[in-house]
Amino acid sequence: MIMTCIDVNNAAFILVNCANCWLGISLDYLGGFILFVATLSSMLASIYGDASEAFVGMSMTYTLLVPVYLNWVVRNLASTEMYMSAVERVRNYSKLPIENGAVKDLSGLHAKWPSKGAISFQNVTMKYDANSDPVLKNITLTIKPGEKVGICGRTGSGKSSLIMALFRMVNISGGKIEIDGIDIMKVPLETLRSRLSIIPQEAIIFSGTVRENLDPGKEYSDEELWQVLEAAQLKHIIAALPGGLDAQVSDEGSNMSTGQHQLFCLARALIRKSKILVMDEATSSLDPETDSILQNVVALYYRDCTVISIAHRVQSILDFDKVVVLDAGRITEVGSPKELQEMKGSIFASLIKASHQQH
Ligand SMILES: Nc1ncnc2c1ncn2[C@@H]1O[C@H](COP(=O)(O)OP(=O)(O)O)[C@@H](O)[C@H]1O
Ligand SMILES: [Mg+2]
Repeated sequence: MIMTCIDVNNAAFILVNCANCWLGISLDYLGGFILFVATLSSMLASIYGDASEAFVGMSMTYTLLVPVYLNWVVRNLASTEMYMSAVERVRNYSKLPIENGAVKDLSGLHAKWPSKGAISFQNVTMKYDANSDPVLKNITLTIKPGEKVGICGRTGSGKSSLIMALFRMVNISGGKIEIDGIDIMKVPLETLRSRLSIIPQEAIIFSGTVRENLDPGKEYSDEELWQVLEAAQLKHIIAALPGGLDAQVSDEGSNMSTGQHQLFCLARALIRKSKILVMDEATSSLDPETDSILQNVVALYYRDCTVISIAHRVQSILDFDKVVVLDAGRITEVGSPKELQEMKGSIFASLIKASHQQH
């Protein structure tokens, strides 16, 4: 894999170098030609006209500079054109249609909604594209307040799509999703997404300080920030960084590992104290040690909250209250892990068996 990437990179690099050499030589030839014409014409002017030898010398000296400037101008024009593609990208982003999130009527929406954390999917159907087949088909699922729900199923069965629907990243085309009895279509997008927490598969860390990453809205005190960092087992790492909360971090930064990025996301979720936590294969890229830290912290701090966990390792959801198995966009099995394990021919039991064989 890495070799293929290096190959692709090198191929592009060699092409750029060849193009640069070609450009250099062509410009030198062009410069040489200009110099030749200038020298010839000034010499002719001195032989047949009244130009002095000093004039010939001066014209030659100045024309010698032409190739240098020519090179400079052409290269700068090329890089300006290259950088303009960044401007074009920004322009494209600024012209993206705004998500349809403006719902004016907020009456009935409590400031602390959702205070219980009950979620109900009612005959939910979802398509990514109006003309394509639905990826979620008639999903009906009730999650009680405080329930821990594990979702499993094959790759492409629609697990992430279910979460997309919950966060309204994609609008559902049929049915209804309610959180604490309120239809999420009636909740402004910003409110909806700020009241739910998610730990995604790929943790996203922005370039900036620890504080900006944890609390972009500057709503919490230092004390609260340290508290969640401690809960996420990151306090000693952040405290060791120069500047503490004001230390610079970045996605490519080497001062935190992938596992720590994931714990950082957990801290971000913890500080918002939301009643609903969603994990989309949050621990799939983690070592077993960080995985168990994350699971323990979630078990401890989200005891009274609703947790929906898309399981990469089925073992991690064995002590959950409920397991939902998805297959090709439909719910095929629902029940406690024990029930499903004992059910004859259940997909869940076969997933567990497969995971035993892997270890
Ligand atoms: N952004 C997208 N646009 C179109 N189709 C998508 C998109 N994301 C996922 N799909 C399709 O939806 C189906 C379910 O995908 P997904 O929910 O990501 O599955 P899972 O998380 O269970 O692996 C797949 O067939 C996939 O090809
Ligand atoms: Mg997925």
